[in-house]
Amino acid sequence: MGNVNEDVVLVTGASSGIGKAIAERLARLGYRVYGTSRKQKPLDDKSLEKQYGPGFFKLIQLDVCNEESVKNAVEYVLEKEGTIDVLVNNAGFGIAGSVEDTSTEEAQKQFDTNFFGVHRMLRHVLPVMRKNRKGTIINISSVAGIFSIPFQSVYSASKYALEALSEALRVEVKPFGIKVVLVEPGDTRTEFTSRRQIVTAAGENSVYKESFERSLNTMVRDEINGPEPDVVAKVVIKILRRKNPPVRVVVGASYKAMVILKRFIPARFVEYIIGKLYS
Ligand SMILES: NC(=O)c1ccc[n+]([C@@H]2O[C@H](COP(=O)([O-])OP(=O)(O)OC[C@H]3O[C@@H](n4cnc5c(N)ncnc54)[C@H](OP(=O)(O)O)[C@@H]3O)[C@@H](O)[C@H]2O)c1
Repeated sequence: MGNVNEDVVLVTGASSGIGKAIAERLARLGYRVYGTSRKQKPLDDKSLEKQYGPGFFKLIQLDVCNEESVKNAVEYVLEKEGTIDVLVNNAGFGIAGSVEDTSTEEAQKQFDTNFFGVHRMLRHVLPVMRKNRKGTIINISSVAGIFSIPFQSVYSASKYALEALSEALRVEVKPFGIKVVLVEPGDTRTEFTSRRQIVTAAGENSVYKESFERSLNTMVRDEINGPEPDVVAKVVIKILRRKNPPVRVVVGASYKAMVILKRFIPARFVEYIIGKLYS
């Protein structure tokens, strides 16, 4: 098989968008890919496996918000393959609304998927990687994990939290030969936009109605005009080929420039630009 890489990969949230693009691209390169979806049938359905060139991409059932489901999915892959070499924590969604209009329950739901979902996956996969003394964990964050976006504050907070977890995790697991990398996409054309949950109180009676709607229109416009999710998949491939991958990789030249700029310009100026863009 020459250069074919047959590592076993688990990609959460691979039924659409970025996760699907990553799973398909890796399968085409020969990786043995298990992607996940909440909507999938029970775990032993063979018809869900698709061959992609030398590798395959099998979609299995998983809800990252459910401990039992996480345990079952990880056990299933281990039973089939005996190992997990790469974990891509991608499953996620966005909620939108002002801080004041967001209920605690809505905020908790956002964190349950985007942050605790990753934490649950890590607690089940890390023992395997530690035992193997190798493994790569790729956490799909967002540029919203670097710039907090008005009316996406809780989504941004969930990604900031993921950034904090990943930075510390990277140091903790380095002695076990495990690599941890944050991937930070900007606006990308996926189902993320149609699936975005708007907080209940963001309706007619909200004092933020006008600025929220303006901001929401900007988010939607930028996402649907954004690049295909395969651009993120290409970045993931590059990371997997690196011996010593960086802490974070920002996807997209303009976002890279913004991140570099953020280091050098005063916070008030950053705030001014974000305000102009989103409210
Ligand atoms: N699109 C963007 O502009 C953008 C930008 C930066 C970062 N991101 C991040 O990229 C990741 C992927 O998003 P996407 O843009 O590809 O959106 P997407 O097309 O909506 O895909 C989201 C995936 O996550 C899965 N998912 C959602 N909740 C889940 C849960 N509780 N348990 C398991 N799977 C769950 C969905 O699967 P099922 O519904 O089938 O379970 C789906 O496969 C997210 O973490 C998102 O925050 C997206």
